[in-house]
Amino acid sequence: MIPLKRRKVVPSGAGNTGNTGSEESSPNKFPQVILFLLERKMGASRRAFLSQLGRKKGLQVEEMFSERVTHVICENISGDEVVAWLESGVGGRGRSSAHLLDVSWFTESMRAGRPVEVLDRHRLQQQMREAEVVGFSAPSYACQRRTTLDNHNAILTDALSLLAENAELSGEDGRGVAFRRATAVLKGLPEPVTAVTQLVGLPCLGGHSLRVVKEVLESGASSEVEATKQSERFKALKVLTAIFGVGVKTAERWMREGIHDLQQLRDSGRTLDRSQRAGLQHYDDLNQPVTRPEADAVAAIVEEALAAVLPGATTTLIGGFRRGKLTGHDVDFLLTHPEEGREVGLMTKVVSWLETQGFLLYQKTTRNSYLEAEDGPARPSSNMDRFDRCLSIFKLPVEVKGEGLNPWRAVRVDLVVSPISQFAFALLGWTGSKLFERELRRWAGHEKAMSLSSHALYDKTQSRYLRASSEEEIFAYLGLEYIPPSERNA
Ligand code: UTP
Ligand code: MN
Repeated sequence: MIPLKRRKVVPSGAGNTGNTGSEESSPNKFPQVILFLLERKMGASRRAFLSQLGRKKGLQVEEMFSERVTHVICENISGDEVVAWLESGVGGRGRSSAHLLDVSWFTESMRAGRPVEVLDRHRLQQQMREAEVVGFSAPSYACQRRTTLDNHNAILTDALSLLAENAELSGEDGRGVAFRRATAVLKGLPEPVTAVTQLVGLPCLGGHSLRVVKEVLESGASSEVEATKQSERFKALKVLTAIFGVGVKTAERWMREGIHDLQQLRDSGRTLDRSQRAGLQHYDDLNQPVTRPEADAVAAIVEEALAAVLPGATTTLIGGFRRGKLTGHDVDFLLTHPEEGREVGLMTKVVSWLETQGFLLYQKTTRNSYLEAEDGPARPSSNMDRFDRCLSIFKLPVEVKGEGLNPWRAVRVDLVVSPISQFAFALLGWTGSKLFERELRRWAGHEKAMSLSSHALYDKTQSRYLRASSEEEIFAYLGLEYIPPSERNA
């Protein structure tokens, strides 16, 4: 540890040219003493108050930390944390030889009307040696890391997620992914970050993300995040894209036409497509998170449908609920049948059963164009027509009925059918998280010369598809340690 050089404290009156008794601030009263009050943990308003007090007594109090500072005044914070903070360069230029002092030195000086001598009891205790200021480390790809729902840095990840969301809503997907990656790294840390220096060795944390982290650690909030939250454009984009069936492009077009909220949309008389009409009609329900008991209730209905239309067919909960999340924006299911080929036509039968039973408010069944567009050679062409997906809105009967209460609520449900030969790939591909999936595909492509999709794994070196009947086998092909669903919450 760099020894903190002791500085002689100027005794009272030295260098003071008779400017006594004045209540006005007099910056040169004690020219050898330049104070800096650390806002972190002290808080902005207390810092402002104490700074003003100090200046009134003729002390020079700097707003910014610099090499000139001789006394750093701190409150409720450990010496180690302050050293890490100073070394991070957050508050200005690097490290100096300033005294790191508890606020008691300051209050005693205020009482004495001059900077008192620095005694040991004023100094902040420093436990850690420099080498021991432990930083975190993590591998680069999210699919190499175990990310549970136990997030120790929610205040940081909330800030970065919001910036990711804003980038995505602005069509800046590259920036969005960068913020998502940074967020995922912080989500995986075993304990709260206390100093930005701990992050030095971590991947995916670019300058922009680090600046945001620094600011949040320092002051509790990021000015960029707060400004984004307040921005009319962001607010309108959020409200409009929260309508099922409305993407960024549509929302932007409407905003250009002066539509910024639901009422303006209704009043505009815009023609909406079928999904958007359903989205607007069930807006409140669909924006209220789905709970785990509701997901289980949907699962029971899907099971009933399967038992009725194709006994032996199975349904598996996928998406966020499979990862252990307690709520979701929808419920996702993967349907299959243990005999290859028996799943053909299953979606049509399930959907018509659900429709007859009155469980559907909306449905749209598609061949999965998302995967067709994304996956290229990884898709065995013979299975092109087998991967059906149904985006639906369920009319879910509610358990607790009461007078005036709706006896049902609208819930988004995604159904996917896969042949048993592709089941493991579909299961892996639809369990998420989205970033975890993206990182798996990136890992496969960049590190293994393989192409992974929700249908198959293609080895480009051997020019062949690799068969798998479990997720564990796929991780093994990819040369990755197996990560269970509950640890894929990147
Ligand atoms: P969701 O969007 O449902 O996310 O996609 P989630 O993780 O369940 O979180 P909630 O619902 O917001 O709580 C689930 C999985 O399905 C894949 C995604 O990659 C994700 O892993 N998916 C989703 C696709 O493969 N294609 C799609 O078109 C949509
Ligand atoms: Mn989901």
